[in-house]
Amino acid sequence: MFQTSETRESFLYMLVGIGVVVLTLATTSCQPAAVEISQEDTERAQENLLPFKQELKAALVGALEEGAETSIEICREKAPEIAANVGEAGVTMGRTSHKVRNPGNAPEPWMEPLLAAYLEDPENAEPRAVDLGGGTFGYVEPIYVESFCLSCHGITIAPEVEARIQELYPQDQARGFRVGDFRGMFWVKMPLGEVL
Ligand code: HEC
Repeated sequence: MFQTSETRESFLYMLVGIGVVVLTLATTSCQPAAVEISQEDTERAQENLLPFKQELKAALVGALEEGAETSIEICREKAPEIAANVGEAGVTMGRTSHKVRNPGNAPEPWMEPLLAAYLEDPENAEPRAVDLGGGTFGYVEPIYVESFCLSCHGITIAPEVEARIQELYPQDQARGFRVGDFRGMFWVKMPLGEVL
């Protein structure tokens, strides 16, 4: 089949070359779904997030009884405080959105495609998890607008609440929402697959 050993050699090199190209293509095209986050890891993220969700909601509902104006302070101070105090060591969590009130809640780069995916398909409320490299993973779940959110994130906001928001958050984008709208995400960042 081969006339000379050189021809055979170059044919072999060519085969190796094709192999390398195929392998590279295969690994790059697989990257988005690179590592499956295990069910246990997803559950650990959910367990860590639960007290944050519960305490935040309780604080908000309690505060709203004192009027929306006062509750703004609760939301401002309590949300980061609760986020910092619940959860195991090495776990961080918070809230983010495509329309943030506090610029400090702006999405990190890994959160952006996840926000975009929920915005594109808001009906799909499935939580999602991604490998962040360095032995950590990110977990997110969507947040939807309920009627009691409207006093601070709705289309019409009471003038005194509006004024306080404007004062504290001059770059506020988090208004104009309707009940059922996708508002943003809870996120958790934590170490992969080890018992904490
Ligand atoms: C009393 C007013 C008030 C109510 C009611 C309220 N929020 Fe907020 N919300 C705020 C304030 C103030 C912030 C900014 C907090 C901060 O500085 O971190 C905020 C921030 C957020 C954020 C974080 C992203 C961002 O925009 O900075 C999300 C998500 C959010 N709110 C969702 C909701 C949802 C969902 C509800 C109803 C279940 C709700 N909020 C009810 C005032 C309110």
